[in-house]
Amino acid sequence: PAKFDLVVVANRLPVDREVGPDGEAGWRQSPGGLVTGLAPVMKTHDGAWVGWAGTPDEEIEPFDLDGMRLVPVPLSNDEFTQYYEGFSNATLWPLYHDVIAPPEFHRTWWDAYLRVNERFAQAAVTVAAENAVIWIHDYQLQLVPGMIRKLRPDVRIGFFNHIPFPPYEIFAQLPWRKQILHGLLGADLIGFQRPYDSANFLRAVRRNVGTVARNGLVRVTDENGEESHTAKAQSFPISIDAAELERLALKPEIQERARQIREEVGNPEVLMLGVDRMDYTKGIRHRIKAFAELLEDGALSVGEVTLVQIATPSRERLEHYKQIRHDVELAVGRINGEYGGLSTQAVNYLHHSFPRDEMVAFYLAADVMLVTALRDGMNLVAKEYVATRVNHDGALVLSEFTGAADELRQAVLVNPHDITGLKAGIMKAVEMTPRESARRMRALRRRVAEDDVQHWSRMFLETLAGLRRDN
Ligand code: G6P
Repeated sequence: PAKFDLVVVANRLPVDREVGPDGEAGWRQSPGGLVTGLAPVMKTHDGAWVGWAGTPDEEIEPFDLDGMRLVPVPLSNDEFTQYYEGFSNATLWPLYHDVIAPPEFHRTWWDAYLRVNERFAQAAVTVAAENAVIWIHDYQLQLVPGMIRKLRPDVRIGFFNHIPFPPYEIFAQLPWRKQILHGLLGADLIGFQRPYDSANFLRAVRRNVGTVARNGLVRVTDENGEESHTAKAQSFPISIDAAELERLALKPEIQERARQIREEVGNPEVLMLGVDRMDYTKGIRHRIKAFAELLEDGALSVGEVTLVQIATPSRERLEHYKQIRHDVELAVGRINGEYGGLSTQAVNYLHHSFPRDEMVAFYLAADVMLVTALRDGMNLVAKEYVATRVNHDGALVLSEFTGAADELRQAVLVNPHDITGLKAGIMKAVEMTPRESARRMRALRRRVAEDDVQHWSRMFLETLAGLRRDN
């Protein structure tokens, strides 16, 4: 098979299935953040992307798309259940998000995680050229760096964790904590969203692996106690394609669509917006509770204000995801029953995903954006909202527990567990003077425009390339 200088490895391939005008099924690049950040380097570097195509029990041959080689890794039905739904999303996901839901530990899930990580590692080395760079992404594939180092000592290995890395007291619960740390330490560079995450990781290394970490550097030894390499942990906050979002936000047809959206929800004075995957980490219930209390208090009234909550379907077979959907839908039904009228809803709830253009129209239509996650590695919705506010208006209410809050200091920062404080934050955003909004939005926009996703991938890859090779 052909060999590539840059190999990206992620659980998902950056593609969506598409049926063409001829009725033939094909693929189209998905609008995800990661692929926009990597597409430019992939094209200049001769890049391949190794990942799962999204349907269990399906074998697909490698193919080319938009100047990239796509290498599908198959998952059986059992692996989908045990590796993806199980270990990745019912063990690691809740564990890494402050145990908001209780993580489950099952040895059969771990076995599947091992087996699938091995398959991703094999697929990656098969397409990696001599001295290639292999960049592995996220919590589903934490063992892959260590596996690749054993198979191919010639390549440079980077890993980036998109979700939080938990405090040691939480991480310590994981029965396989040592294996995970050794897996990650197989990389030359281990990237995290925030300095907090990389500090948590280094603390876990100190407690379990014993090698001393200084300036984020870890001397890694192999099974025989021989020094193998130096791994470096560092934070690289991810971002969005700010210029592309701004370009969309300036399109007359998208601006027209934003006006239409406002009309469709009854031309409120204030349109508030929430956009999340339907996930228990996003604080959707807290947000709705605060909103309901503001209606109850009379601080806000239906007709003047409406909340549009987009919650895209996610991991739907898992119990905690069924539960959060149930809770959100119950809460929405109650508020609308209590405060809505025949054609005026308090909450306009949409449980589906929308194309990119439509999302930008929603952002443009929103006076107040609510991001109230209980824990979130970064939260790109917050950055997307800012990037689309080309008129420097609108206000962002942002949870302190997101990575984005480290950078977006001019947002109205809130603790979503504190419902009284959250209500005050929402009112502050609603009542903000245009002058104050503009002042804050200008600062926020500057930040997002400078540190975009292209900058992020460049920084990571340059840091990886600049590390001293000592093995
Ligand atoms: C988060 C994770 C990603 C994941 C995405 C969607 O952003 O960090 O790795 O791809 O959620 O979740 P899904 O389970 O559908 O891939």
